[in-house]
Amino acid sequence: MDGFTTRAIRAASRTPRVEQRPTSVPIYQAATFSSADADELGAVTTGAVAGYVYARLGNPTVDALADAIAELHGAEAAFASATGMAAIHLAVGSLVGAGDRIVATRNLYGTTRALFTRVLARLGVETVFVDPADHGAVEAALAAEPTRLLYLETISNPTIAVADLPALAALGRRHGAAVVVDNTFASPYLCRPLELGADLVVESATKYLSGHSDVLAGVVAGSAERIAPVRALHVETGGTLAPFSAFLVLRGLPTLALRMERHAATAARLAAWLETAPGVARVLYPMLSSHPDHAVAALLLPTGGGMLAVELAGGAPAARAFVDALRIPERTASLGSIHTIVVHPPSTTHRQLTPAELEAAGIAPGLLRVSVGLEDPDDLAADMAQALEAARATR
Ligand SMILES: Cc1ncc(COP(=O)(O)O)c(C=O)c1O
Repeated sequence: MDGFTTRAIRAASRTPRVEQRPTSVPIYQAATFSSADADELGAVTTGAVAGYVYARLGNPTVDALADAIAELHGAEAAFASATGMAAIHLAVGSLVGAGDRIVATRNLYGTTRALFTRVLARLGVETVFVDPADHGAVEAALAAEPTRLLYLETISNPTIAVADLPALAALGRRHGAAVVVDNTFASPYLCRPLELGADLVVESATKYLSGHSDVLAGVVAGSAERIAPVRALHVETGGTLAPFSAFLVLRGLPTLALRMERHAATAARLAAWLETAPGVARVLYPMLSSHPDHAVAALLLPTGGGMLAVELAGGAPAARAFVDALRIPERTASLGSIHTIVVHPPSTTHRQLTPAELEAAGIAPGLLRVSVGLEDPDDLAADMAQALEAARATR
């Protein structure tokens, strides 16, 4: 008879055979998967035969998430990674190398911008930043020199600008650039960029896809031909999504539409009210006719989503007083959650920018970004009304 520990290892590793399909995807918390014989192990390791051997090469729970994302984005294939930044790195890194050039929108999420200006620049990839609303400037940048990649965000931070994806993707294609779109603020419920001409779509699944501020994850979707190099780059760089994290994102997907509808209905109501409230200089919400991209948004999006920005007339002191007076929202720096989250970009997410850079990016000292959560709309409206009073008292 084998020794105690040998038997304990075998006894604890016996996986159950389940005849009745579980109605949620099991968490395959395993780093290794055992093959029947050496031939099968070799074939699975090299990819000649479908299967699992080592979780960085593939895990069933993570694959189930990728398949679900592919379906929701109308894509042939998808890949799920440890964070949104890992997904962006994989998408961009699968397309560019030393000597290549990227044209990207100037209001990018700050860490994506840092990936381009710090990491990729060091590796010999040049990035040129343009205003996506100025199609002439985008075309000029694409035409100036051969460009490998056009990088866009569907809805961008913090001014809630909406990109005209069909027109911009057409420009990218005309100039031979692959088009990659970060769709994090929209989610596939609001927008499916692949249907509008993008080659790859990326999302931080940390936000709306999972929706509860309890997991970090990222996804990339596109054609099978474009996802194969994404998968290959991941094998060599890591950034693997944990199975439990994949489970949490899968758990979010069935309620994505319900959550997005509630986020959007509350955001639309708050935006319309804030626009008329004393002490408010400006409200940026795609479905307000005052929004600079309203026409594009009305054409491309079924609702305005859950993100809005509000500029307080009293500048930074009023913005700080507003944030401090809020009772319901979380004082943190993410978005796309059950919780309403209010941030003051000039002192948090965009604090590295100089006053001139903030002004050029349309970020006034009194600007607040609001990710509208799922709390009762009346409670949020009452809380914001009393916070506005506190903000007005600073003047
Ligand atoms: C638009 C956008 N893209 C990407 C990311 C990065 O996602 P993660 O934090 O999951 O790496 C974020 C994070 O805030 C984001 O707002």
